[in-house]
Amino acid sequence: MPPRIFAGRLPTASEFAQHDNGAAKNPAAAEESPRQKNRIQAIALPLKTYFVTGTDTGVGKTVLTVLLARFLRGRGIAAAAIKPVSSGRRGDARQLFRAMDGALPLDDINPWHFGAPLAPALAARLEGKKILLGDVLAHCRRMRKRFDALVVEGAGGLLSPLGEDFDSRDILTALRATPIIAAPNRLGTVNAVLLTLEALPQSLRRKAKIVTMQTEPQKRPTSAARSNPALLEQLCGAEVFTLPWLGRKIVYPSGRMGSRVRRTLQGILQ
Ligand SMILES: Nc1ncnc2c1ncn2[C@@H]1O[C@H](COP(=O)(O)OP(=O)(O)OP(=O)(O)O)[C@@H](O)[C@H]1O
Ligand SMILES: [Mg+2]
Repeated sequence: MPPRIFAGRLPTASEFAQHDNGAAKNPAAAEESPRQKNRIQAIALPLKTYFVTGTDTGVGKTVLTVLLARFLRGRGIAAAAIKPVSSGRRGDARQLFRAMDGALPLDDINPWHFGAPLAPALAARLEGKKILLGDVLAHCRRMRKRFDALVVEGAGGLLSPLGEDFDSRDILTALRATPIIAAPNRLGTVNAVLLTLEALPQSLRRKAKIVTMQTEPQKRPTSAARSNPALLEQLCGAEVFTLPWLGRKIVYPSGRMGSRVRRTLQGILQ
């Protein structure tokens, strides 16, 4: 049995209320003074490796990776965003290519691509190929040397089989990257995030960032969406961020990212 990671108590009803519909600790939703907005420019960002994983497929990993890359590059940091292994359509790699304004060829962003919409390990086998962990790590390390910051998108969830006997957790652990866990902000998310955190080695769990994503437009957030961030913070003690629904065209020109979104991204990267 893996060790339980949360010893916290459940938040009370009034604590939820203090979260102002989940917004109080959420930089994306909180009101900002002009001075706070200016602080975005003033705080330095650490240069390091981030690994964007998720509770599942289709949970906002690419959206988050694109936003982080654009944010870093918009701050003048030579940042690369890569998705080393992918299967099915190659849309994610193309989004990362655009987020980097073409600074890295598609085959460096995504060297291992297989056509079948299956777990990459299986999709590769169908083409008579094997993906080896050592090769993927060597590529990530090469990219890390070339750039000041590296954002790596996994494929599927943390334990989806990527290649011969490895998954995103193996890459993340070997790179000692900061885990960023994308999770759709809905009923069931708390369980999925806690399972993902439990699967991380303890040393990485401590620095994990959780980002609940509004993956669909909603007139009003559901009560689960409003309470998830506070409940997660209480249960696992990790930093929890929330990104709202950002519309269908999420690949922003760098200048158009809202200040609340930028503050959230800054919090995730620190
Ligand atoms: N905050 C958001 N605002 C608007 N759309 C979002 C947001 N988060 C996710 N989406 C949408 O949800 C869908 C899934 O997101 P995304 O492609 O980033 O998931 P993923 O986890 O990268 O999936 P995959 O496992 O296929 O790589 C996309 O259509 C994306 O545009
Ligand atoms: Mg993706």
